[in-house]
Amino acid sequence: MTKPLASHDRRAFLRIGGAATLFSFLTPLAAFAQTASGGGMKIGVVGSGRLGGTVGGLWVKAGHQVMFSSRHPEELVRLVEGLGPKARAGTVEQAVAFGEVILIAVPYSALPQVGRDNAKGLAGKVVLDACNPVAARDGEIVKEADANGVGPTSAKYLPGTRLVRAFNSFGSGTFASESRRAGEPIGVPIAGDDPEAMKVAAKLVRDAGFEPVAVPLARAKEFSPSNGPLFRQALPVKELRQRLGITQ
Ligand SMILES: NC(=O)c1ccc[n+]([C@@H]2O[C@H](COP(=O)([O-])OP(=O)(O)OC[C@H]3O[C@@H](n4cnc5c(N)ncnc54)[C@H](OP(=O)(O)O)[C@@H]3O)[C@@H](O)[C@H]2O)c1
Repeated sequence: MTKPLASHDRRAFLRIGGAATLFSFLTPLAAFAQTASGGGMKIGVVGSGRLGGTVGGLWVKAGHQVMFSSRHPEELVRLVEGLGPKARAGTVEQAVAFGEVILIAVPYSALPQVGRDNAKGLAGKVVLDACNPVAARDGEIVKEADANGVGPTSAKYLPGTRLVRAFNSFGSGTFASESRRAGEPIGVPIAGDDPEAMKVAAKLVRDAGFEPVAVPLARAKEFSPSNGPLFRQALPVKELRQRLGITQ
């Protein structure tokens, strides 16, 4: 049964004119993003190290089902046991198949291989890309990301996905410590050009205990390590909006 829309969605719905419009306006993915909070989404995590393990853990605590993956899934036993029955471990291929949404958190230099090896499984899925090009670690691909922008570079290596750059802008320790903090939440910039995927990403940022601030994919470089002015900035959401020039 379809769950009722949240009040702000109902207002938007009334503005555009009635029930007949609703189902042509809301695609299944957007409707899913609005209603999934009850049962939780199925999320596959590729790269379950500091960032993937932390953010995936926050989603488990929010009620989502998360499959953490590794090239050595047996090494994830402690992580998933600590998180309880909504967490499980698998291979990268299994996590990609399991997730309705995929978080990728591997070294940026591994992104082309992850994209290539899992092209079929990732096609059409919402992919949250937390990977940052880091000169000291990632080699040649950093030059490409610097020249073309990190958003378009990720899109090149994850073709056919509904890509959103997310969870890039500060460290995993801060994601752990500032989740659901008291008072004004910390803002997390998300960048993408697929409106429905952005809705899903926004919900998952909120479920992780933060407030999303949305910009187009081309602006992902503003919170990337190569001179992105918002990289390593864990800012209260109003300040983040201001810094990004978002007025709503
Ligand atoms: N740590 C942070 O604070 C932070 C914050 C924002 C963004 N990021 C970005 O997030 C990404 C992950 O960072 P991290 O600090 O979490 O790194 P990490 O702790 O080293 O974890 C990375 C994981 O990636 C997996 N991996 C490596 N190569 C792979 C490949 N070819 N295929 C599949 N999986 C592969 C490894 O898993 P297995 O060896 O088990 O397969 C490893 O556990 C990086 O791009 C980083 O820049 C990190």
